[in-house]
Amino acid sequence: MLSNKTIILGITGSIAAYKAAEIASQLTQAGAKVNVIMTKEAIEFISPVTFRALTGNPVVTEMFDLASEFSIEHVSLAKSADIVVIAPATANIIAKLAAGFADDMLCCTVLATRAPVVIAPAMETNMYDNPITQDNLSKLEARNFVIVGPATGWLASGKEGLGRLADINDILGSIRHILDRDGDLAGKHIVITAGGTQEPIDPVRYISNRSSGKMGYALAEAARDRGARVSLITAPTSIPKPAGVDVIKVNTAQEMRQAVENVTSQADALIMAAAVADYRPKSTANEKIKRRDAGLTIEMECTPDILGIVKGNFIKVGFAAESSKLVENAKEKLKQKGLDFIVANDITASDSGFGVDTNRVTIIDREGRIDSLPLMPKRDVAERVFDRVAELLPKPKSR
Ligand code: PMT
Repeated sequence: MLSNKTIILGITGSIAAYKAAEIASQLTQAGAKVNVIMTKEAIEFISPVTFRALTGNPVVTEMFDLASEFSIEHVSLAKSADIVVIAPATANIIAKLAAGFADDMLCCTVLATRAPVVIAPAMETNMYDNPITQDNLSKLEARNFVIVGPATGWLASGKEGLGRLADINDILGSIRHILDRDGDLAGKHIVITAGGTQEPIDPVRYISNRSSGKMGYALAEAARDRGARVSLITAPTSIPKPAGVDVIKVNTAQEMRQAVENVTSQADALIMAAAVADYRPKSTANEKIKRRDAGLTIEMECTPDILGIVKGNFIKVGFAAESSKLVENAKEKLKQKGLDFIVANDITASDSGFGVDTNRVTIIDREGRIDSLPLMPKRDVAERVFDRVAELLPKPKSR
């Protein structure tokens, strides 16, 4: 999605300027053309040579650099941009942009561009909290600048606090999200569930399963990158929060049901990749259960069948984790739960299903069409799922 996009990466004078090298590198590796503009303060922190080497493009450091191909028409970069990203953005550049200054190449480019602008602030907590900076950020937001971060953490002052450059994945996620505003899921609200629910036995023990959440998170990122607004309802996992996605954390099947019912009121599609526990202990002990030589019997009851009971005018997609009779069992679930289609998941192979990065699935729809896909990365499975979802969504009326 980033290939053939022109991204202007503005770097200003912050200790976090070194992190811009990773941003430039990742964008370039993803196929984008990255043009870097550095303020003179940024050069005090990191050399333009680094960015020239990482992007393969000249780095603009001076407004009137006669050797630069961009200096003749100083707005040429602005015109070529699909997006402008300033990371890190100091309080100074934020103030200058809010006031409309045009006294350096970065300010001129931002003033002249019609492309979306992302600002990732990085500064001391007090500078960030200062009402002047907050007013400036509000002004920029009101003019549709996208502000990412800052994050809380270790700062150059040696203290911990708010003001650290946002996580690079958050910045990259925002760029992807903005660039694909016109994707085939633009304007759609997609709800996705992920991970294995945890059903408590006592304060320290629970019943769960081997779901890592990888399939659900891959779906969330794919939907986001195709332009959707994504709500990801997730049972506990060790995967970092995907940028540009609303994450709702739950533990139990009952909490997941509640969250699904809350967020699907305006949804266009619900995709349930979560491995929801089918049974939970009938009661949860208040105290840790003591070891007894006689052993322990736990009485279990059914959890709510979320997909089966959730109602609404949206596309419903289930996953079926099967260890035998893949198509037969999945077809039965498709019917029982009233789904538009089901993604039958072969969990018998070590490279497919729970915990791994790849999956082998068969998509079965309510018309009985069966599409068996080869082993592929979970992200590719997610794309195939959304190809189907996009086909089912109502088409915009042509004028
Ligand atoms: O998380 P990973 O490690 O990446 O693994 C991915 C996965 C194997 C968990 C995933 O691809 C998958 O197959 N998810 C569905 C697992 C499952 O619970 O299957 P099921 O056949 O038991 O349930 C069928 C469908 O009903 C599922 O969409 C499930 O979310 C839903 N369900 C199940 C039980 C329940 N009480 N309520 C439900 O809504």
